[in-house]
Amino acid sequence: MPYTAALEFAQRQVAALIERHPDYFPIYTECGRWRHGGELWTDWTGGFLAGMMWQFHLRTGDPTWRERAEHYSRLLEHRQHDRNVHDLGFIFLNTYLPWYELSGEKHLHDVLIQAGRTLAMRFQERGHYLRSFVAPESLFIDIMMNVPIIFYAANESGDDDLRRVALAHCRTTRDTIVRPDGSTAHEGIFDLETGKFLRESTHQGLAANSRWARGLAWSLYGYSKVYALTGLDEMLEVSERNARFWLDHLPADGVPLWDFDADSTAPPPRGAQKESSAGAIAASGLLDLATQTKSPDRAKAYRETALRTLDRLVTPDYLASETPGWEGILKHGVYHTAKNLGVDESVMWGEFFFVEALTKAAVRSLTTSP
Ligand code: GLY
Repeated sequence: MPYTAALEFAQRQVAALIERHPDYFPIYTECGRWRHGGELWTDWTGGFLAGMMWQFHLRTGDPTWRERAEHYSRLLEHRQHDRNVHDLGFIFLNTYLPWYELSGEKHLHDVLIQAGRTLAMRFQERGHYLRSFVAPESLFIDIMMNVPIIFYAANESGDDDLRRVALAHCRTTRDTIVRPDGSTAHEGIFDLETGKFLRESTHQGLAANSRWARGLAWSLYGYSKVYALTGLDEMLEVSERNARFWLDHLPADGVPLWDFDADSTAPPPRGAQKESSAGAIAASGLLDLATQTKSPDRAKAYRETALRTLDRLVTPDYLASETPGWEGILKHGVYHTAKNLGVDESVMWGEFFFVEALTKAAVRSLTTSP
């Protein structure tokens, strides 16, 4: 299916979701339906539903999407003070940032800066990292996608301490859970007394020392975003190291298994289980990285890989357009295998990054789809 047709399908699915369940922020589907009874684990995905509405408005100019986007963004405003999650970048950069960029309203700017300040309060001076939501001794690779809101707040407010904290987190992450070959661990555990890095760990990957696909995608895209905000080549180097691993290990169809160490001959969920959301995140990140790298050859490779993934994701094997009753956009995502939450389902961040990547490709006329 052409990318623009896939985006139109995405708009219909989101419109149906908000009609069916007004003011509800689901995280994953159960048997293709958004109203889930399972736990959240952590409440981190509201910005993706509202963020899709902003993407739809920005691409089409449709005022209805803007009204919906403003309404759903406003429902998230109180989260600027939320100290229970490490996800304030996901929540606010996809909502209040596009809103502020369109309107220039000071209040929206203030919310963004406050969200950056709140996230920065997670900084552990011993160890030099932003603690994850699970424990003070824990650093997650996912935080690389959220630390950009601290850089944003630092740049906009001129607060050097915010920049210090954000830079230190990126460097600690690079030096502990990004490996020399560009793969990543999900979690790092630190000694709270000395701040010393102790070991790799995981919650959502196959094993502490495995290569969880979504974590790698978060790192690739996160360091690329940090490079965009800082201009520091050391950040570009990490993103390109992640990208090299991604390109070298991605299956021919452009969609990874949930963990690069999963046994492709074993049954799902721990074996041959595809993870479409990791594919969508990496595709969106690679489209940006293609504009940042200093190597024309690598730019071409990043773009081609992103389009290979998107071309696969817009087929009916992944796009739910020909799956009657499926309420999501993209099938075959995975949230949390060990907890059996959202496995082989639609997941809200998969929806968002798929829409974001398709929009980038469509706007830049990069489509390779027929
Ligand atoms: N906790 C973030 C993720 O599932 O990727």
